[in-house]
Amino acid sequence: MRTRPLKVALLGCGVVGSEVARIMTTHADDLAARIGAPVELAGIAVRRPDKVRDGVPAELVTTDATALVKRGDIDVVIEVIGGIEPARGLITTAFAHGASVVSANKALVAADGAALHAAAQEHGADLYYEAAVAGAIPLVRPLRESLAGDKVNRVLGIVNGTTNFILDKMDGSGAGYSEALDEATALGYAEADPTADVEGFDAAAKAAILAGIAFHTRVRLDDVHREGITEVTAADIASAKRMGCTVKLLAICERAADGASVTARVHPAMIPLSHPLASVREAYNAVFVEADAAGQLMFYGPGAGGSPTASAVLGDLVAVCRNKLAGATGPGESAYTRLPVSPMGDVVTRYHISLDVADKPGVLAQVATVFAEHGVSIDTVRQQGKDGEASLVVVTHRAADAALSSTVGALRELDTVRGVASIMRVEGE
Ligand code: NDP
Ligand code: HSE
Repeated sequence: MRTRPLKVALLGCGVVGSEVARIMTTHADDLAARIGAPVELAGIAVRRPDKVRDGVPAELVTTDATALVKRGDIDVVIEVIGGIEPARGLITTAFAHGASVVSANKALVAADGAALHAAAQEHGADLYYEAAVAGAIPLVRPLRESLAGDKVNRVLGIVNGTTNFILDKMDGSGAGYSEALDEATALGYAEADPTADVEGFDAAAKAAILAGIAFHTRVRLDDVHREGITEVTAADIASAKRMGCTVKLLAICERAADGASVTARVHPAMIPLSHPLASVREAYNAVFVEADAAGQLMFYGPGAGGSPTASAVLGDLVAVCRNKLAGATGPGESAYTRLPVSPMGDVVTRYHISLDVADKPGVLAQVATVFAEHGVSIDTVRQQGKDGEASLVVVTHRAADAALSSTVGALRELDTVRGVASIMRVEGE
């Protein structure tokens, strides 16, 4: 074993970074044995140097992250600051100074992954980001490496722990939305700005990363259709229950049947209680990958939190350190297929539409006619009267999203339709 240590700069020492530092210290001997050389924590960049950080050597803490990555003797930079800047500038500076990079930053990788991969390649460095998608679950590396010989057609799952935690609490204990979000934040699951979680930006970034790797193409964040959970009501959850379903925030990336394009979307959806994703609780994530030769694979585990995420970061650290010692680099970006990303209107799925309508003769027929005129076939209708008005819940057969949007537009024009209370997709059947 080499005795000269590989030097590691840790950028960020918050929920994830503090756990990375702890494991690097407590597992130092095992990490050295697995890598073939000791790894030394050479510096830790933070914003607030005076914050009390248990188990973190005070002499390593600095507020000058740029000077740390420019030192010239750093072999690996671990970026767990988050956000776009200064993380992006620090990572490119790290490459320029000969370091490989491990990051947990899905926002940055989704926004600028192509340029970061190019910078890594230019400098003969690695860029690894297993922790960016689905916390502790090995998913990026299996897609990037283990499934590199197969043809992936679909990636579907729960990739945001915070929103799964909130929906699970709302469904299970009837907890309120804000109360559940506060709990998820206190447990270290939420992003620095939890809007990223609840509005679906975090899951959309992960979907863009997964789709790009799975289909060997480039999927920009803007290509991902995104809806969060802020509009999901207790009534939606109750309605899902009546249908034998539950509500989950799903990320779905699909290759078109003719193989000529892909779609990527994030939105809440009703799924049957019998579906394996329905039993994914709290901040756990689960992702199905469907590939030509492998068939269906399921990846499951803790999707957020300091310690689980640190596990993924440490796995990447071992991999890039091994590459360094071998004088090699791991796989870079593979985007040769250049498949176009189709708009959401092309996506075909089922829908649950809840309408407030006048409770009088002929209304049901009027509503059904609008669906028929737009080529959307109705599967079930449930009506419940209340004081001269009625709540009408329509579940459709599979239809294109564009056709459903036109249907809803036309329904809103009807005098007898007082309002469209909610529209939710139904998946997993
Ligand atoms: P935190 O907010 O807990 O930690 C961020 C850290 O970055 C803090 O230590 C902060 O310093 C430091 N920091 C912020 N700005 C600067 C700066 N300009 N220069 C130097 N240091 C800075 O975030 P998390 O640990 O939760 O997340 C980090 C990354 O990991 C994000 O990209 C996130 O998306 C990702 N991630 C998080 C998961 C989770 O469950 N939390 C799971 C998977 C990925 P200080 O401590 O002084 O404030
Ligand atoms: N905020 C993220 C989540 C962290 O809740 O899933 C893990 O990426």
